[in-house]
Amino acid sequence: MIKLHNISKTFKTASSSQQILKNVDFSVMPEDFITIAGPSGCGKSTLLSIISLLLPPDDGKITYNGVNVDFSSQAQLEQMRVKYTGLIFQNPNLISSLNVLENVLLPANYKKLGKKATIEKAKKLLSDVGLSEKTNADVSKLSGGEMQRVSIARALINEPKVLFCDEPTGALDQETSQQILKLLLEIARKNKSAIVMVTHDNDIWEKGRRKVRLQGGKLIELG
Ligand SMILES: Nc1ncnc2c1ncn2[C@@H]1O[C@H](COP(=O)(O)OP(=O)(O)O)[C@@H](O)[C@H]1O
Ligand SMILES: [Mg+2]
Repeated sequence: MIKLHNISKTFKTASSSQQILKNVDFSVMPEDFITIAGPSGCGKSTLLSIISLLLPPDDGKITYNGVNVDFSSQAQLEQMRVKYTGLIFQNPNLISSLNVLENVLLPANYKKLGKKATIEKAKKLLSDVGLSEKTNADVSKLSGGEMQRVSIARALINEPKVLFCDEPTGALDQETSQQILKLLLEIARKNKSAIVMVTHDNDIWEKGRRKVRLQGGKLIELG
């Protein structure tokens, strides 16, 4: 479904140049569950940003369902992101002036289902993440785990083919972290979304159906 061919990325500053990705080849298949680990600063977030079309690579090619991604076309990028990608970060990044439901609807593409059905979908997702009672709540009154649940519902609003998760439980305590991970896996399966998850937690990494390490700019897939 997603293919990376020969992807390279270098960050240059005034005094140094750091090659983060070196001719990386990788693919994501429908309903995959891929976990990515690697030392801090090795480029995991950079890799995730490139696969999810937030950041252009310096070299190489990315195809989504066989279509070559053109990073100079904002219209094509926007269309592909809406159709394929959902994003979950360590920090839920909710908008405090909007309530829970409005946050979930923020990235919604109303053209797909129509406005009414999209709002129903958002409510259904909030029920799936256990937040039916908080639909109209003020997000600043939620716990950390509840905020991350809202961000999971938000990531799924456009029925993405892939959920990209960057340390999704990194800011949560052990117990909440396990609940959120379980929820994430269940909801992705139910929505037929693949998961590409960056984690520094070895127990979470071990759960991946495909386990990958990023080291020295190279991706190594382990059995
Ligand atoms: N926009 C940027 N400009 C310059 N350097 C960056 C930028 N983004 C990340 N880096 C550097 O690239 C390296 C990899 O960063 P990152 O992908 O965040 O690593 P990880 O997620 O594995 O901890 C780090 O050394 C970081 O400082
Ligand atoms: Mg990171």
